[in-house]
Amino acid sequence: MQLAPVITIDGPSGSGKSVLSRALAKYLTWFNLESGVIYRLFACVFIKKNPIFSKKNLLSLLEDFNNYFNYNDGIICNFNTKDFTQYDLMSQKVTDISSKLATITYVRSNLLIKQRLFRRKPGLIANGRDMGTTVFPDAIIKFFLNAKLKYRALRRMCELQKKGFNVNFNNILLQMQKRDFRDINRIDSPLKTAKNAIVIDSSNMNVTEVLKVAMSHIKI
Ligand code: DC
Repeated sequence: MQLAPVITIDGPSGSGKSVLSRALAKYLTWFNLESGVIYRLFACVFIKKNPIFSKKNLLSLLEDFNNYFNYNDGIICNFNTKDFTQYDLMSQKVTDISSKLATITYVRSNLLIKQRLFRRKPGLIANGRDMGTTVFPDAIIKFFLNAKLKYRALRRMCELQKKGFNVNFNNILLQMQKRDFRDINRIDSPLKTAKNAIVIDSSNMNVTEVLKVAMSHIKI
């Protein structure tokens, strides 16, 4: 059986992955996987149920985490996010804890299985840190989206302000630097450019321009 095609978009936070991912999924009428949301959702469950970083506890929470996915004929359809709002998912605490949980190998291997179940026909756009390197190494096109730290922090600040958060630019920049460090230096599936990836620097580009460049590489 032929697997559904996948296009991956990796890059650091605030590089514009989610916006590009949604736009491409809409353009191709493919499914969209926002893998960061899985890590954030798991962080929410961790904080709510038992915030202890022991292996025993985390393995038990990972099992419990299965209940947050709706299965339909063995295929994951949707997150069951009624317990947590967009506001919860984007809070500073969840941002920080998800980044820490993402450095733990057995957490990553467990969440990797869930992410692969999102692969469905006609195709999947998957964005995150390790989509092209680890989760979908056979992706037909791999993008690596990047931007200068200052621009990424600015974008994140606007995004959080729109969602009702009271944020400070310098704090965001500092937190982003810390997360970048963790993402790039973790042992398991660190953030890096996949072999053959198309690198796009979005520092001086708006959403439409990024989308245009990405679409120019898609011949489907
Ligand atoms: O993309 P995001 O900021 O919503 O992701 C939240 C955290 O999850 C981020 O700090 C790193 C982690 N993450 C990861 O390690 N691998 C992914 N594929 C996606 C996210």
